[in-house]
Amino acid sequence: MQSCKLFYSDDPVKILRARGQYLFDENGERYLDCISNVHHVGHCHPSITKAAAAQMDLLNTNTRFLHDNIVLYADRLAATLPEKLCVFYFVNSGSEANDLALRLAQQYTQQEDVIVLDHAYHGHLMSLIDISPYKFRKLAGQKEWVHVAPLPDTYRGIYRENHPNPGQAYADTVKDLIEEVHRKGRKISAFFAESLPSVGGQIILPRGYSAKVAEYVRSAGGVFVADEVQTGFGRLGSHFWGFQQQGENFCPDIVTMGKPMGNGHPLACVATTVEIAEAFTANRVEYFNTFGGNPVSCAIGLAVLDVIETEDLRGNATRVGAHLKDLLTKLQTQHQIIGEVRGAGLFLGIELVTDREKRTPATKTAALLVKRLKEEDRICVSTDGPWESVLKFKPPMCFSMEDAELVVQCIDRILTDIEANDLKLEKEDI
Ligand SMILES: Cc1ncc(COP(=O)(O)O)c(C=O)c1O
Repeated sequence: MQSCKLFYSDDPVKILRARGQYLFDENGERYLDCISNVHHVGHCHPSITKAAAAQMDLLNTNTRFLHDNIVLYADRLAATLPEKLCVFYFVNSGSEANDLALRLAQQYTQQEDVIVLDHAYHGHLMSLIDISPYKFRKLAGQKEWVHVAPLPDTYRGIYRENHPNPGQAYADTVKDLIEEVHRKGRKISAFFAESLPSVGGQIILPRGYSAKVAEYVRSAGGVFVADEVQTGFGRLGSHFWGFQQQGENFCPDIVTMGKPMGNGHPLACVATTVEIAEAFTANRVEYFNTFGGNPVSCAIGLAVLDVIETEDLRGNATRVGAHLKDLLTKLQTQHQIIGEVRGAGLFLGIELVTDREKRTPATKTAALLVKRLKEEDRICVSTDGPWESVLKFKPPMCFSMEDAELVVQCIDRILTDIEANDLKLEKEDI
């Protein structure tokens, strides 16, 4: 069991039921969930349960038989995406989606090499460990066909907020990498990136970055893959997909989706263009996925889209996310340890630092804050980023104004206490 980790491993929580943004443990204690972007429209949402049960009671087959659900669902997804992304492959996890995206890209371009962002994570299959610096740096290392571009992080990356055009500057690092690949006699198949790098620490890509990268990658014969496994389905409020934040004219060649798609049911997807799909079909090897796109999964996917619309969850993410960000930004003026507050909608991050000038990661304080929020206030939050110094907020989309206010009050109280008593904790190890 050592390789499988629990939240709060010193004192794990046993959750027996959940509703909305709340989890209930074996003693009936309520926890506020600020972690689960999977339970997108709320834990155990009755409409989702009802849609799943009704379809399970009627039929669950596979995609070798005709069924309306898959067609209706693909149509609904297509309506959220640019017109050219009109072919859908339904799979069971974000990893399966990214593995298929890799295969589609390699088959379409007839090349193997992939560019990824530093600290990225794209899934647990071997093919994806290979393109996930977050994992392969701890394992066998970097494969010769994988190339790592700097994370476009304007807080602690190589080009920061004072740079006149960080989007262009970071895109140029990808251009340089492509040229380096060419010098080695190789060619690019794909550029893979999360639309807002989450494992990298809730990073907002600088303006213009993706369009420029896509231009460079396409002119080198490659395709742009947007990993929307964490950021899709309206999490940002203002946009349905994270990549749309990069401007109306930017459209990836492949989009992968997962986590929130089935509200906890294993449902994921790859969306792509007709040209890429045709190249995939050209070798006449059948693509079959036993569970992907089955009528129950599609019924659930449709119900999730319905709830996002009927409950105006994007509107809620915009309003509550803005309020939370505003309160956290105010908190930053009172606590030196808050280096930056960033994000959009209900996808926010607080970067904790021991020194604002040097931007030294406050890893231990972040861990202590997570622990105390759980123990004292029953609030579940997680950390991420290369130094686990970024507190992440990606709660179910029904998160309320009151939840936001409670979280900020509790963080304020704990940070005040830590600053008074515990700050030498960081100085010891950094
Ligand atoms: C950005 C990103 N892509 C892909 C995956 C893999 O998804 P799954 O765990 O559903 O296989 C994850 C999982 O955390 C992820 O965060």
